[in-house]
Formats: sequence, C-alpha cells, structure tokens
Amino acid sequence: MRRKLVAGNWKLNGSLAANKGLLQAVRDGVKGQADVAVCVPYPYLAQARAALEGSSVTWGAQDVSEHAQGAWTGEVSGSMLADFACRYVLVGHSERRSFFGDTDTVVAAKFAAAQVAGLTPVLCVGETLAEREAGITGEVVTRQIEAVLANSGVDAFASAVVAYEPVWAIGTGRTASPEQAQEVHALIRARFERDSQQVASGLRLLYGGSVKANNAAELFGQPDIDGGLIGGASLVAEDFLAICAAA
Ligand code: 13P
Repeated sequence: MRRKLVAGNWKLNGSLAANKGLLQAVRDGVKGQADVAVCVPYPYLAQARAALEGSSVTWGAQDVSEHAQGAWTGEVSGSMLADFACRYVLVGHSERRSFFGDTDTVVAAKFAAAQVAGLTPVLCVGETLAEREAGITGEVVTRQIEAVLANSGVDAFASAVVAYEPVWAIGTGRTASPEQAQEVHALIRARFERDSQQVASGLRLLYGGSVKANNAAELFGQPDIDGGLIGGASLVAEDFLAICAAA
C-alpha cells in the first residue's frame, strides 16, 4: 500500500510575515496518515525548517540546479538544499519547462542532481491543451519520463515521486476529471511496470492542477492517484489542510 503524499507548491508567493501563520497552521493542523510537504521559495527554506522541524510536515524547493557548484550565477545546488534539510525538490514543473527553457534533457540532469544530494525529486510531467486535443497526451508524458529513465534508470524511481500536472489544469480552476487523471496515471505506472514491477508498484504518482478541498477526495480515491501537488490552495491553510485530510 502506497502512502499518500500531499505537497504544496507555493510558487512565487509569500513573505516572512505571511509565511509565519501559514507554516504554523499547517504544522498544527496536519493529522492522519498522509505525508505532507511544502515546497517554498528558496529564501524561505530556513523559515520553513525552523517552523516545521520536529513535526511530521517536511519541506522542499521548487527547482534545483543541474550543476553541483561553480560559475552559474543565480543557481541553487542540491547540496545547498540539503543544507537546509529539504526532503523534496520539484523538477520539470510545467512553468519551468515553458517559461525558463527546461528541456527534457535539463530536467533529467536536475533529477539526477537532486538524487546525488540525497533529495527526493518530484518529476513533473503533463501535456498542454493543444497536445491533449491532438490526442498525444500519452506520447508527451511518456517522452518526458523516458528522458529521465534514459539518464537515471528505473531503480532511481525507487526514491522519487512523479507528478502528473496537465498544463491546462494548472491555475485555471479546470481540474482533470478523476477518470482523465486516472487514465494517465495508469499509463505512467504501466510504463514503469515494463522495466520493474517492484518500482512501479511502490512509485507515488501525484496529481496536480486545480486540486481543491471539494475535489481532492474523489481524485485521491482513484487507484493510481497517490496524492496531490497543490498550487493555489496550498497558500490558504484551511484549504490545504482540508486537502491533506482528504488524503
Ligand atoms: P494549482 O493548484 O494552482 O492549479 O497549481 C498546480 C501546480 O502547478 C502545482 O505544482
């Protein structure tokens, strides 16, 4: 039985003042059987650590450099994230892919860099609306996963998470139906089964894209949906806690 995971992705939001109450409320409010994490902007990692250390809630970052060190102005390495006791790091979020040029190759390198530093990468995959309408959702998601498999191998996914986030569902209020999401999750798991039954059965597959308190339970009730990656609703403690409770 896979343990559910609910991860918040704060994106470019927050302030020291605003985070204080949110982190405290999440720390105090999380109960039950699911794992819970928050992926905060880099400058707030120390704050998240101070607020959450000793609780069941873990923290992480939203991106990581593919490079370990050196002349890469503006980058943050995996070992720096490990210094702040991060558990998770997102790689290949659709906003990184579409606005910052993270190609499949770059994403594969970031995934590997995260693991070298002892972090658990959350590999984000998903199709655009045009790709869905063209009927190539499966091809797109498979291509995004193949790049990482080719670089790291299937066993690397024994300590990784995959998040399916259809681009058309992110921040739009338009959630994939539980059936649409389950269909892609099943396809992803089947791809891993080809290489390793054991890795596939243990791999946590999160759904992300307009997950809210009122649709979380139905999504998380699907056989291959092992939790969620939550954007907007992770910024409101009450909403995020309700989603965690649904898991
Ligand atoms: P929303 O929950 O705001 O749609 O964002 C999803 C997401 O991109 C999480 O990474």
